[in-house]
Amino acid sequence: SPVLVVDTDGGVDDAQALLMLLGAGRVPALVTTVFGNVALEAATRNVLATLASGGAGDVPVHPGAARPLLAPRIEARHIHGEDGLGGAPRPAGLAAAREEGAVDALRGLLRAAAPASVDLLFLGPLTNLAILLSLDPGVAVAVRRLVIMGGTLEGRGNTTPAAEFNILSDPEAARIVLTSGLPIELVPWEPCRRHVMTGDEIDAVFASAPDSEGRRFSEALARHARRTNASYGAGDVFRFVDPLAAALLLEPGIARRTSRASLDVVLGEGPGRGLVLVDPSGRLGTPEVLLLEEADLERLHALFAASVDPAARG
Ligand code: BDR
Ligand code: CA
Repeated sequence: SPVLVVDTDGGVDDAQALLMLLGAGRVPALVTTVFGNVALEAATRNVLATLASGGAGDVPVHPGAARPLLAPRIEARHIHGEDGLGGAPRPAGLAAAREEGAVDALRGLLRAAAPASVDLLFLGPLTNLAILLSLDPGVAVAVRRLVIMGGTLEGRGNTTPAAEFNILSDPEAARIVLTSGLPIELVPWEPCRRHVMTGDEIDAVFASAPDSEGRRFSEALARHARRTNASYGAGDVFRFVDPLAAALLLEPGIARRTSRASLDVVLGEGPGRGLVLVDPSGRLGTPEVLLLEEADLERLHALFAASVDPAARG
């Protein structure tokens, strides 16, 4: 399968998304990190721990932007725990992150790649890609698919009434990327919150997996996600957020319902900041993207089950 690069802000569901890719045997060529759920350094540490726990400790990790293009940074430690991984037990003897930064590493990889040969999965604020596209728009030809978790379908955010976290974290960057004309497949917040696994279903998956460090790591992530959702009144469930985007990247066939629309992002100050305008009528005039609206829940559950201990894959 095509070369894959993942860009992530190192949160609990980012880790679950990485484990899902590894569990499916789709190892990224490199991973780039970005501020977001936690500060950049913590995000990078979390990615190194997750890759090692999933048996892919040799994947190069390149630290990226530590702050948004213009705006001050917002955080989500109340969702992802102080360390960003809900206190999951970390493997010992982790590799170090690379010296080369995210933008240079991604640029080098795309410059060396054939047209339409690289898949990109973005799970955090879009700052790294916005910087790269501004510096070197020519890299776009190498991109085959760009799957992004972010934004909303109906304009109801999870961070403000208008905005979803990844977009609100850097709306200026989001606007550059979402209107770039790249082959974008957007996974907005609404389908993420609707595709869930119940506590009982999760328990059943872990009960049938042999005990290992990897299993204990993913179990701790799931436990944290369940607790967070319960505390927000969503019940004892795990929601497929970043893992829904990973699943779409892995299996385009999981899409049950999609639509196409032009996008723009509301900038400036005020309550609408970070709102993603979704325009199926094309009046915005920006390039159309694909929007995921509904996915095959059974396949999602199967991909989750396969992610429990990627290091144990036969
Ligand atoms: C997004 O923000 C982060 O909290 C999650 O990791 C996900 O990428 C959801 O709005
Ligand atoms: Ca994320």
